[in-house]
Amino acid sequence: MQDFTYKDNEASMPALSAMLTSRMGDGSGNHEAAHLDTVRLLMAALADGSLLDVGCGQGRFTAAGAALMREVVALEPDPARCNWTRELVADRENTTVLNLLATEFIEQHPGRQFDLVILSMVIQHLATDSVPQLLADVARLTTPGGMAVVSTTHALEKARCFFLQHAPEQHIGEAAFNDYARDNQSLDMGLPVRRFSRSEFIALIPDAFEIVLWNQFSYYRPEQLGHFARLHRVAPDELSDVGNSQYLVLKKRAALAA
Ligand SMILES: C[S@@+](CC[C@H](N)C(=O)[O-])C[C@H]1O[C@@H](n2cnc3c(N)ncnc32)[C@H](O)[C@@H]1O
Repeated sequence: MQDFTYKDNEASMPALSAMLTSRMGDGSGNHEAAHLDTVRLLMAALADGSLLDVGCGQGRFTAAGAALMREVVALEPDPARCNWTRELVADRENTTVLNLLATEFIEQHPGRQFDLVILSMVIQHLATDSVPQLLADVARLTTPGGMAVVSTTHALEKARCFFLQHAPEQHIGEAAFNDYARDNQSLDMGLPVRRFSRSEFIALIPDAFEIVLWNQFSYYRPEQLGHFARLHRVAPDELSDVGNSQYLVLKKRAALAA
């Protein structure tokens, strides 16, 4: 595994979370509820199966899977975050946390596949030309008939863009985004962020998958619409039914008979 450092300590997450809502009930619950509940449902349905959490970060899905599923493998390229998750699930004998990229895991475990693969909130931070390979790896790592859940950012088609975390009002070009995303030493502007539209996200999904479900989540609280409208460069009312994030539930097509 080459040196890799995730360009964020997630210190700004509570402030962002306070601006978002699940729109379920009184809106006081977790703004990611739709996404989290879908993953939990699949984990419970596939309890006898295996889970792969690609880019596990601080292990929220790894820990949930460890409690619900037979076997869990988590991959994380940042050594510190990998160690964090390893500690989190240290008492779970069914769980292994590895400091590896998906490609490296495939090289080391040829033919290994999982009943459920999670790729949560990773692809929006990667150079654009590396995303198809990562999604191909996810397809390869999913058992035929198995499921995958991929989540990322979400914006209206006309508002898809690239920016750097510490200057969200300043949209940048794809080339500048890619240069910054590839240069792991420049930490000064935080994470590179790509805001995906629904159609460009769906267009990236490999043919090996059937799309079972698309959904959006993390809606903007009404009093925050003006703030996000400025960042997205749209009118506030255009964002009233737009989630800040989106996810796809995918089913790997059965292998064709020879
Ligand atoms: C926003 S965090 C999401 C963490 C976790 N999946 C979650 O949803 O809580 C993105 C994570 O992706 C990891 N990452 C970065 N590049 C990656 C890559 N090429 N493949 C897999 N994970 C990567 C980062 O180190 C970071 O931990």
